[in-house]
Amino acid sequence: MERKTIYLCLAHMSEDGLEQKYVKEAFDTNWVVPLGPNVNAFEEELRKFVTGNTESEILSQSRWPEAWESAWHLKESLKNKQVVALSAGTAAVHLALIASGVKAGDEVCVQSFTFCASSHPITYIGATPVFIDSERDTWNMDPELLEKAILDRKAKTGKYPKAIIPVALYGMPYNCDRIMEIANKYDIPVIEDAAEGFGSKYKGQVLGTFGKFGVLSFNGNKMITTSGGGALICDDAESKNNVMWYATQARDAYPYYQHTAIGYNYRMSNVCAGIGRGQMSVAQAHINHHKHVHALYKELFKDVQGIELKEAPSADYDSNYWLCTITIDPKLKIKGQENAYKEVIKTAVGGAAGVIHAVDDPTTDCQPNENVEALRVFMLEKKVEARPVWKPMHKQPVYANAPAYVNGVSESIFKVGMCLPAGPYVTDDDVRYIVDCIKEAIEK
Ligand SMILES: Cc1ncc(COP(=O)(O)O)c(C=O)c1O
Repeated sequence: MERKTIYLCLAHMSEDGLEQKYVKEAFDTNWVVPLGPNVNAFEEELRKFVTGNTESEILSQSRWPEAWESAWHLKESLKNKQVVALSAGTAAVHLALIASGVKAGDEVCVQSFTFCASSHPITYIGATPVFIDSERDTWNMDPELLEKAILDRKAKTGKYPKAIIPVALYGMPYNCDRIMEIANKYDIPVIEDAAEGFGSKYKGQVLGTFGKFGVLSFNGNKMITTSGGGALICDDAESKNNVMWYATQARDAYPYYQHTAIGYNYRMSNVCAGIGRGQMSVAQAHINHHKHVHALYKELFKDVQGIELKEAPSADYDSNYWLCTITIDPKLKIKGQENAYKEVIKTAVGGAAGVIHAVDDPTTDCQPNENVEALRVFMLEKKVEARPVWKPMHKQPVYANAPAYVNGVSESIFKVGMCLPAGPYVTDDDVRYIVDCIKEAIEK
């Protein structure tokens, strides 16, 4: 039997077809609009998911007697949290910036090692991203560099940055304690980009609930999907109301259309929210599966010299392992390495939804090592999708003029990193096959 391609992470519906039931309900009741019962119910289920069970989990993680006090504070702050369903995670980042008061000419500190949707919305507003490099432990925003950047921006521009955006790269939590401590010290709001970290936890608390705002994504490749969609976790009902106002063209309360602010059409469709409601029934199973796949990779890579699987630095960091990532020793020889980067890519590249933006040169001045590219090509021939890790934003030509506070970590990981399939469709047999293919690719 011919093997099917194993993709990085594909949408996966519930066995009992709940998604279709809720979508059908939307059609049957003619709620085919960007509001309605599915939207409300999805928001409520998300709210429960991100704020539930935390007190006991915190208690089980922390030391007596401090535990009681911190658990009580946490419970109080989580009680008020609300969720707004939106058309995309990117829209959630954009609205969080607006609701944090970011304006044209302001600066925002954002993790450099991320997908472009963490930083692009800063530019939509006419503000400037200030890129912060990563720490090696988590691959996420380095708190020491963050503080250095905050102080240096203040010295250079006379103003503090207006927001801080840490990112849960491939699901891995950032150092929430340190980032929140620094943000509170300078009174700067934190927008957590947990688009890839749905259900990941730091010290028992779900990501997206630490900061003023938390971004979620339900794109087709994410932990759960609404085909395309996102959500913003807000501090309280008032903040939710404000975000919803901006998400629905910012209309004032008159019988006719009156506007005192620029708004957006960013609300989630009731049809998509139906898919989301169905997906909530499998959310925890998906997370468990991603973790299971990661554990299996760990076992199978144990004896493979030159390949290292990324793991959480300690039990405080409970990653959903949205994608499993490896780093490849530069000394490792991969079959076909001599041909890496010899030809310009003529087809659509992964994730670009069929769009081709042709280039003249097969290389750039900052790219993954040749053995990483050779492994990607080798795996593609074996019908396994493997991709380089995100190219840091401070190395992107489009951000050539943006300030950046760097330590070399994200650039060095970009050169050796690779993402491997981890979604609900990936079976144990697939994982064994993937690791066997990687072993086969290594020149003896
Ligand atoms: C880190 C990160 N932030 C934001 C987004 C944006 O989400 P969306 O694709 O739903 O707009 C994504 C994913 O696509 C992401 O990976």
